Amino acid sequence: MILHIDGDINRYYVQTLSMIFFPGATFAPDEEAGEDVPELYLTLEKSPNGYVATTKVTLNGKSAEAQRECEAREDLSDERCRKVAVGASVTAALGELLEYRSSWGILTGVRPTKVATEMLGKGISKTKTKRLLVQDYLVSAKKAALATEVALNEQRIMGTPETRDCSIYVSIPFCPSRCAYCSFVSYTSKKLLSLIPEYVHRLAAEVKEAIAAADRCGLRIKTVYIGGGTPSILEPELLEVLMSSLAEALGDREIEEFTFEAGRPDTITAEKLAIAKKYGANRISVNPQTLSAEVLSGIGRSHTVEDFYRAFSTAREVGIDCINTDLIAGLPGDTFTRFAESMDGILALRPENITVHTFCVKRSATWRQSSGIYSMRGGDAGKCVDYSQIKAQQALYKPYYLYRQKNTVGNYENVGFALEGKEGRYNIYMMEEVHSIIAVGAGAVSKFVCLRSPTTGKPTIKRQFNAKYPYEYLKADSIPSLVSSMEAFCEEFLDG
Ligand SMILES: C[S@@+](CC[C@H](N)C(=O)[O-])C[C@H]1O[C@@H](n2cnc3c(N)ncnc32)[C@H](O)[C@@H]1O
Ligand code: SF4
Repeated sequence: MILHIDGDINRYYVQTLSMIFFPGATFAPDEEAGEDVPELYLTLEKSPNGYVATTKVTLNGKSAEAQRECEAREDLSDERCRKVAVGASVTAALGELLEYRSSWGILTGVRPTKVATEMLGKGISKTKTKRLLVQDYLVSAKKAALATEVALNEQRIMGTPETRDCSIYVSIPFCPSRCAYCSFVSYTSKKLLSLIPEYVHRLAAEVKEAIAAADRCGLRIKTVYIGGGTPSILEPELLEVLMSSLAEALGDREIEEFTFEAGRPDTITAEKLAIAKKYGANRISVNPQTLSAEVLSGIGRSHTVEDFYRAFSTAREVGIDCINTDLIAGLPGDTFTRFAESMDGILALRPENITVHTFCVKRSATWRQSSGIYSMRGGDAGKCVDYSQIKAQQALYKPYYLYRQKNTVGNYENVGFALEGKEGRYNIYMMEEVHSIIAVGAGAVSKFVCLRSPTTGKPTIKRQFNAKYPYEYLKADSIPSLVSSMEAFCEEFLDG
């Protein structure tokens, strides 16, 4: 796609907006013009009242044009006013050309609740926040209500974040086999799976060092999350090694929440869950993705619907307090009826948390090359997402966590629902970036968060990346750099 931009405009924003309409578009500077290459001309000018943006797009001999003004207002920064004008004119022109409108309007980011949170934080009422999301950001009324509801729930659950709060993330990037749709980095080959014992012993030592460093920095650990991949791939002996080491490092301090993600039903046994529970885990995931046997086999997930029910009742028998189940809306081969049956089946089990993802296509997924699985308009995915939100709320689940990924069918969102008081708090802390995440293990990323920098007064986040692949990770020694970044960050941003 070719962009011609004139004015004080964030080019990356225009690219991400354009990608809603042209998924997978590239913006190489030497892209050659042609009938079938979309071309967009955008100008932004100051007007007597604010900013005016004008967009013209052409493709295959068709063209569309739209001019939009954003009037300056006290509650809109200058930068936001420019973004609103640009967003409105680009989406109007592209929308007319392709006869499509995204229900998230001009919001392209991972966290559409951020704008609602900002407005509510300025004392704007709930009703006005919803109205402004619709009016300025062109979000549909339904999504504006959802984003506002989630923002309010997040605030209520988080309270006021403390400067020295943090969470610990432990990465187990291994799975027994690869699900065809999966967009996460995880290792399934025999060669890599053979590294698990060495990897777990390394992690067991490293979590101790990371927690000791956090203690020296005066950080307060709120939650622990062992995620994957599939953490329940670990055999009981290795799980014991990891969990006992974590429990020893945590000592008798009180942790708000300790998630052992578990994940794939075919790896979950009572023995493994009992070990996790013995060492403090109080939240797990048992994920069906769908309760349709046909869809399950089509997506290459090597377990059955019965495996899911068995694993779920095992988790209940072991006495895990909080069980999450993941579903995906818009899976290839799924239909609205099947999805509705899956959602109803899950609601009947009354797990404490239900997370409904929208199917997304990422480069690493095996299906990337296959045609026909991605649809900008989303087919029935929108109906499925709506159904999940209506039914969950009727069943007294509250949406408390919301994020978006690129390339989701229909541009829909992922939403976490919870029964009152059972929200997955790590998910909120991580997504809202309100405190530091100290991450141990391959592919994991630590985030050091300061909500108000002593020098700029603005939020500051520094990231520390661990080696991506387990064999690289085992060769490297990530802990010294993790510890020194943590110490340097605390000294510069949190001390004093
Ligand atoms: C990191 S995965 C780990 C879960 C665990 N390994 C399992 O499969 O049960 C977390 C969740 O992301 C979701 N997910 C993975 N790939 C996805 C995709 N392409 N589109 C939408 N959701 C996806 C699934 O619901 C999955 O349970
Ligand atoms: S969906 Fe879960 S089990 Fe399947 S490959 Fe992805 S992380 Fe592994």
